[in-house]
Amino acid sequence: MKRRNFIKFSAISGATIAISGYSNSLFARKKPNSLITSGYLPRIISTWNHGMAANNEAWKIIESNGAALDAVEKGVRITESDPSNRSVGIGGLPDAKGNVTLDACIMDHKFNCGSVSFLQNIENPISVARKVMEQTPHVMLSGKGAYDFAIEKGFKHKDLLTNEAKLAWEKWKEEAKKEKPIINNENHDTIGLLAIDKKGNLSGACTTSGWAYKLHGRVGDSPIIGAGLYVDNEIGAACATGLGEAVIRICGSHTVVELMRQGHSPENACKIAVERIIKAHDNLEGLQVGFIALNKKGEYGAYSVYSGFNFAVKDVKQNTMINAKYEMDW
Ligand code: GLY
Repeated sequence: MKRRNFIKFSAISGATIAISGYSNSLFARKKPNSLITSGYLPRIISTWNHGMAANNEAWKIIESNGAALDAVEKGVRITESDPSNRSVGIGGLPDAKGNVTLDACIMDHKFNCGSVSFLQNIENPISVARKVMEQTPHVMLSGKGAYDFAIEKGFKHKDLLTNEAKLAWEKWKEEAKKEKPIINNENHDTIGLLAIDKKGNLSGACTTSGWAYKLHGRVGDSPIIGAGLYVDNEIGAACATGLGEAVIRICGSHTVVELMRQGHSPENACKIAVERIIKAHDNLEGLQVGFIALNKKGEYGAYSVYSGFNFAVKDVKQNTMINAKYEMDW
C-alpha cells in the first residue's frame, strides 16, 4: 500500500513529550539554563518505515552503553544493505542512465563530519563517509575519488543495480518517452537517523540513492552537511528527506538546529523550516520535504510539506512509527 493512501493527518500530542521517570543524572546535575534543563534519553529517531529496522540495530549499540556515532552508522547500514529498498543503497533506483549513485553523510557530537557523494558500486556509503571523517583531513569525497578511497580502505566493489530496480528503470525509460517523470515521496525516501546516547551525546547519519532517474551526476542534500544533516551537541540534531534541491536552498537541517537554538521545540523548528521551503518555491507540485529533529533533552519532532511522511522512534518505552504533522494534503 502506498504511504499516501494509508496515512492521514493525526495530531501527535505526545511527539515532543519526554518520557517521565527516565531522567538522566548527567543533566539533572547540570545548572539549568534555557535549553538544557533535564534529560530523557537515550533515544533514536529516523525517517520513514525503514527507520524501524535501522532503529532496532542502532538501539543494540545504545543500550549497551555505546556511542551515538556507532549507533547511527550501524543503524543506517541495515537500510543500505536491504536490496528490497528502492531509495537507499543496494536496490536503490538508478539515475537516468541506469547507474545507482549514492550520497551519504555522518556527523558526531564534536562537529566531526564526513561525506560521500555520487559514489557508485559500494554497498555502505555511510561507512565510507565515516572513514572520510576519521581518516582524512577532508569532509567530502565525490565520484571516482570516493570510490577509489573506499577500495583503498578495504570496501568491496559491488553491483548495486538489482534486477527489480533495473526492470523499474527500463519501464520508466519507456514511460519517460511519453510523459514527464513524476516527483513524489516514494522516490526520495532517504534514511536519516539521529541518536542521543546515554552520555547525552548526539550524532546523525543519512544515506540515499537520491532522486530516482535523476540526471547523471546529480547530487542531492543528503551528503551536504547542513542541508541533509546537522548536529550541534549543545543544541540538537536534524535531518531531511524529500526533494534535496529544496532542502539545499534553505540549508534545511542547519536551519532546524538554529531554530532549536532560538528556543523552538523540535517540531516547531521543523515546521518553520518547512514554511521557509514553501515560501521559497512558487511551484509546490510534488515538492515533498520532511524534517526530523532531536534536541539535547531527547525531545523530538517532525514536520513535512505534504501528508504522508512518517518517522520511527525508539527509546526505553516505545518502538513506534509516528505520522508527522504537515502543511498540505498530498
Ligand atoms: N533527499 C534525497 C535527495 O533528494 O537526494
